[in-house]
Amino acid sequence: MSTETQPGADGAGATASNETLTVTDNRTGQTYEIPIEDGTIRALELRKIKTGEDDFGLMTYDPAFMNTASCRSAVTYIDGDRGILEYRGYPIEQLAERSSYLEVAYLLIHGSLPTQARLDEWTHEITIHTFVHENVKEFMQGFRYDAHPMGMLLASVGALSTFYPEANAIKDEESRYMQVIRLIAKMPTLAAFSYRHNRGMPYVYPDNDLSYAGNFLGMIYRMTELKYGPDPRLEHALDVLFILHADHEQNCSTSAVRSVGSSQVDPYSSVAAGVAALYGPLHGGANEAVLRMLRRIETKENVPGFIEGVKAGNERLMGFGHRVYKNFDPRAKIIKKACDEVFDVTGRNPLLDIAVELEKIALEDDYFVSRKLYPNVDFYSGLIYEALGMPVEMFPVLFAIGRTSGWIAQWLEMIDDSEQKIARPRQIYTGGRGLDYVPIDKRS
Ligand code: CMC
Repeated sequence: MSTETQPGADGAGATASNETLTVTDNRTGQTYEIPIEDGTIRALELRKIKTGEDDFGLMTYDPAFMNTASCRSAVTYIDGDRGILEYRGYPIEQLAERSSYLEVAYLLIHGSLPTQARLDEWTHEITIHTFVHENVKEFMQGFRYDAHPMGMLLASVGALSTFYPEANAIKDEESRYMQVIRLIAKMPTLAAFSYRHNRGMPYVYPDNDLSYAGNFLGMIYRMTELKYGPDPRLEHALDVLFILHADHEQNCSTSAVRSVGSSQVDPYSSVAAGVAALYGPLHGGANEAVLRMLRRIETKENVPGFIEGVKAGNERLMGFGHRVYKNFDPRAKIIKKACDEVFDVTGRNPLLDIAVELEKIALEDDYFVSRKLYPNVDFYSGLIYEALGMPVEMFPVLFAIGRTSGWIAQWLEMIDDSEQKIARPRQIYTGGRGLDYVPIDKRS
């Protein structure tokens, strides 16, 4: 579904059954009537448009799926023009303010908010599955001393499929549920082990007395103390960041999870595909770029000169602009608030002043206003991660922890969708045909 507007998602855009598109094929003069449903036509309807019996039929060409809905989904709603993001119909602002990450994960996966009893049960189930098999630890030891934590996370989450071979039974609801719990529970453990390995520090086992975010902070930072107690304000800020990253409908990594999952492989392998997609700088790496940019600008005084450079086309203002949000990114507003909470504990990061100044100047400047460029989720998240003491390599890893519940919710939806088959796009072939093999000694 288009992410700009989603006709039909709230019922208001639902179309009457007589709504159709009439297409005349000028090659043949023939006219076709194609049903329109939810502001969409079915691509397969175009196959009926042929020049003759032997013709394959018309296809659409849509590199990067800019205008192709690949599924029907009831998980996340986005209205980019109005800056709306909702999980299962609930506005992100309310969830960030009043919910916890585990409650949001429940909402995404089950489709509704839990009762207190169900939430307690869900939290307990996840908490008691945070440990990983000792061999996972051994496996991680095999990485080079300075391996990128995202690469380690990618490999280790994929490796979990070998520890739980029953996960192949994707149609078995009970087994499937077990893997859902394990994935959400073990992701922070794998992420923290990756961090500790990269730093040459001993791995810290989960502490099941702590919250989801608190336990993660413990596995990252605990040293010799018997009991680690996270600062509740940092714990809360991290929990909010996990909520904000939990889902974003059919983005690159979610599409990867669905696409790989459509082969009916186990969910660990599908989620590994999501982590791989998120590893790319165009997806999970923008907040790192923001941080590097702020460091390069150095002082507030250098901001106007930097903005002039951006306007001259020398570079982009990282953390600004979004393919979908053309008014504001609702997540950016929430993150800005979380910044204050974190800096109350850690002390103000001087880069924040540069960020605020950049935002102020850019929001008043016609270049940015006319192009509808506003701060996105990554403009401030890197500052919070840095204040929490995370190195930039950990930024996409933190994103992956939060996004796991969304990936799984989308994977579950795909498995149960009777319209879905193995993902298999078409192509327009542009190569040669019917060439004769030339022996190697005759080639020029
Ligand atoms: N700084 C300066 N100019 C920009 C920027 C920017 N950050 N973003 C877009 N523009 C300009 C662009 O040059 C173009 O101008 P013109 O019409 O004169 O050629 C116009 O705005 C439209 O840009 P576009 O590239 O067609 O827009 P897009 O929707 O394809 O790109 C984007 C979206 C996010 C890739 C882009 O805004 C960008 O590169 N931003 C910086 C990187 C960034 O912050 N990425 C994080 C995205 S949020 C993470 C997530 O949700 O997963």
